[in-house]
Amino acid sequence: MKFDCFTDKVIIVTGASSGIGLASARLFGSLGAKVVMAARRLEVLENLAPTVSADTSKVLCVKTDVTSEEDCRALIEKTVEKFGRIDILINNAGISMRAMFKDLDLGVIKSLMDVNFWGTVYCTKYALPWLLQSKGSVVGVISVAGYSALPARTGYSCSKYAVRGFLDTLRIEHLHDGLHVLVFAPGYTASNVRNAALDANGRPQGETPLDEGSLMSAETCALHLAKALAKRRSSVTLTALGKLTVWAHNNFPNLTDRLTYKYIAREKDSPFK
Ligand SMILES: NC(=O)c1ccc[n+]([C@@H]2O[C@H](COP(=O)([O-])OP(=O)(O)OC[C@H]3O[C@@H](n4cnc5c(N)ncnc54)[C@H](OP(=O)(O)O)[C@@H]3O)[C@@H](O)[C@H]2O)c1
Repeated sequence: MKFDCFTDKVIIVTGASSGIGLASARLFGSLGAKVVMAARRLEVLENLAPTVSADTSKVLCVKTDVTSEEDCRALIEKTVEKFGRIDILINNAGISMRAMFKDLDLGVIKSLMDVNFWGTVYCTKYALPWLLQSKGSVVGVISVAGYSALPARTGYSCSKYAVRGFLDTLRIEHLHDGLHVLVFAPGYTASNVRNAALDANGRPQGETPLDEGSLMSAETCALHLAKALAKRRSSVTLTALGKLTVWAHNNFPNLTDRLTYKYIAREKDSPFK
């Protein structure tokens, strides 16, 4: 597939300091895009910028905590100040969790909604006038858990369902304005997301229950994202397991609940035990 459609496009990637966001920033940089890398850790972004484009004038790093509406507004302002336009906004910054709801400090759900849902809403709100002008794309990186609920991840699933509802609505509102809205749902992908996932008390769990090496790579995930953007798809779900899960959830919801329970019960240190 040809990707010359990304040459000189201005693309904002939130959560660009790690995992899927970093792989996407690098891919779009290699395809000649002007990439805006956003995350909380500015030093990390600045160290990674040369791996996104050898031409550093085509990369902008912006310290952004997406839970702050003011940071999101400033991200959009700084992008337009430097590049004069916005073609694609990739709302990728995200955190996860792992604990049963009965044990959960409610602050954990608030944190997940703040990053995953409100971060997407804030960035989209301020970027929208520019995206309408460029007839560009807005992406929400959700998850298979945004279609089919994942136990011990109440905050994660509800935040991803919420992003899907938000973006599906936005797509209809702008159906005749040339705005492209993509709901992008990766399946399990190797990254830092499970190490950073919050435990019942809101602390990073610091380990992963999965064999990360056996999962889809962040680079492959980024390639699927680029294809979906190039084709202006409305929604994409990745991995065979992810597609099967969404299909089963839509067609056999009760059976899927039972199978999901069994699947999570087999996880290392399963929260069901
Ligand atoms: N990996 C998977 O299996 C998988 C599956 C489905 C969906 N996803 C989704 O893919 C997206 C990327 O996750 P990943 O797997 O690449 O995880 P990751 O390696 O942990 O990367 C998460 C990124 O989000 C940023 N971030 C976290 N909180 C932030 C905040 N408040 N403000 C700004 N940036 C913030 C982090 O940067 P800083 O810490 O520097 O701020 C980091 O760059 C997430 O939305 C995740 O839910 C992942």
